[in-house]
Amino acid sequence: MQTGDICSATERILKLRNYPCKQPYLLAALEDLQAHFGFLPQAAVAVVASHFGQKLGLDSEFSALFHSRPDNPHAVKICTGPLCSRAGSGDLITTLEATPDIAIETRHCLGVCSRAPAATLNGETISRASADKIFSRLKAGDRVEREGGESIS
Ligand code: FES
Repeated sequence: MQTGDICSATERILKLRNYPCKQPYLLAALEDLQAHFGFLPQAAVAVVASHFGQKLGLDSEFSALFHSRPDNPHAVKICTGPLCSRAGSGDLITTLEATPDIAIETRHCLGVCSRAPAATLNGETISRASADKIFSRLKAGDRVEREGGESIS
């Protein structure tokens, strides 16, 4: 999607929602845009910043809540939310990062906190995720695709 298209779509969404230019509505606007684009493009953030009259960047306080890049639908997504972090998702990430040929992405909360640490692979939740569970899912045939489209089994 081109920058101009992103800006137009963002302006249309802000107009449709008719958000007052007040700080409490900023988070809701960003959530709407992430839902629309699947991530928060920098161009959309600039339009929102202008709309709300705020200096805003993806390195801001909101950066942990939103994705700044399009999703790799085949990456293993590991939750880094508070409960999953306490349950060891950081160690899991370290282990997977040390494993060649596995694409991972982090998410703030996957919405399954009672099953921490949580991960997803190809849209399916892996409860109480461990490196062994993820490796066995990958061995069983789930595929992971690194950025650039290279597929790995
Ligand atoms: S904190 Fe990990 S799923 Fe919510």
